[in-house]
Amino acid sequence: MHGTAPSASADLDETTVTEAAVASFRDTPDPRLRACLSILVRHLHAAVREMEPTLEEWEVAVDFLTATGQKCDDTRQEFVLLSDVLGISSLVENINHRKSSVATEATVLGPFHMTDSPERELGDSIDEVGKTEPCLVTGRIVSVDGTPLPGAGVDVWQADEDGYYDVQRPDVLPPGNGRGLFTADGEGSFSFTTVVPSYYPIPTDGPVGRLLLATNRHPYRPAHIHFIATANGHIPVTTHIFVAESPYLDSDAVFAVKSSLITDFHRLDDPGKAAEHGLPNPYVHAHVELVLEPSRGGGRG
Ligand code: BEZ
Ligand code: FE
Repeated sequence: MHGTAPSASADLDETTVTEAAVASFRDTPDPRLRACLSILVRHLHAAVREMEPTLEEWEVAVDFLTATGQKCDDTRQEFVLLSDVLGISSLVENINHRKSSVATEATVLGPFHMTDSPERELGDSIDEVGKTEPCLVTGRIVSVDGTPLPGAGVDVWQADEDGYYDVQRPDVLPPGNGRGLFTADGEGSFSFTTVVPSYYPIPTDGPVGRLLLATNRHPYRPAHIHFIATANGHIPVTTHIFVAESPYLDSDAVFAVKSSLITDFHRLDDPGKAAEHGLPNPYVHAHVELVLEPSRGGGRG
């Protein structure tokens, strides 16, 4: 059974068509859906009114969105990539994580997160290839008042020194390379070894790549390591640390850099410390503090 048809007058014009389209959704039972559609229709009409597209331009837009959908499959989400390069993913992230001043800032998840990452022991290497200088990453997970969070979970993933995630080079990189699930110790501390990641381009072999090319935009993300930290009674945080020396910190293709997340990766020449961590000397060291906000109801997340 269909609801009532929109009662549009026969003589809708450039101005009145907007309110008619908004009114067509007035019987939407879900108030949130009704409100969002009304906002969306008003803003889309305002944009079209301002652009005054030709019919050919409208067709180009439809073709672009069609190609974006057609590029999607189980492992590729071109619509999310479009949202990323338009700054929308970052905006949604910011709206949903208006954080207290001390909590770690959240940033985009990105398409390379895997739910079946390998579980690893503290101190393990997440890099199974090891072509370059090793990098020790140490970290601590604490609550906003500084209390350590023993047993907190840390999910880590990164591109390698050439800028590739394992899933991008399945013939060369072992599955799970650059990834690990860790459980923090009794002091909320964790550590692992890896390689310093490289900056890399987001996927450009689809409509989003063509958009970047047509607009003279580069596709690069500055070098970073992704983290998701979880702890009982706290809100999980999805974030990155950015390599302080990396190019593109000021022009990330997906607008996800926050200065609080830029981290020094120091080169250390200290044979004693290197031996302590079972690393060749010299090595690189980065430290991250992941500060979580308590959740209102308690419980994990
Ligand atoms: C990433 O950092 O993995 C990423 C984020 C957004 C788009 C592409 C890649
Ligand atoms: Fe990434």
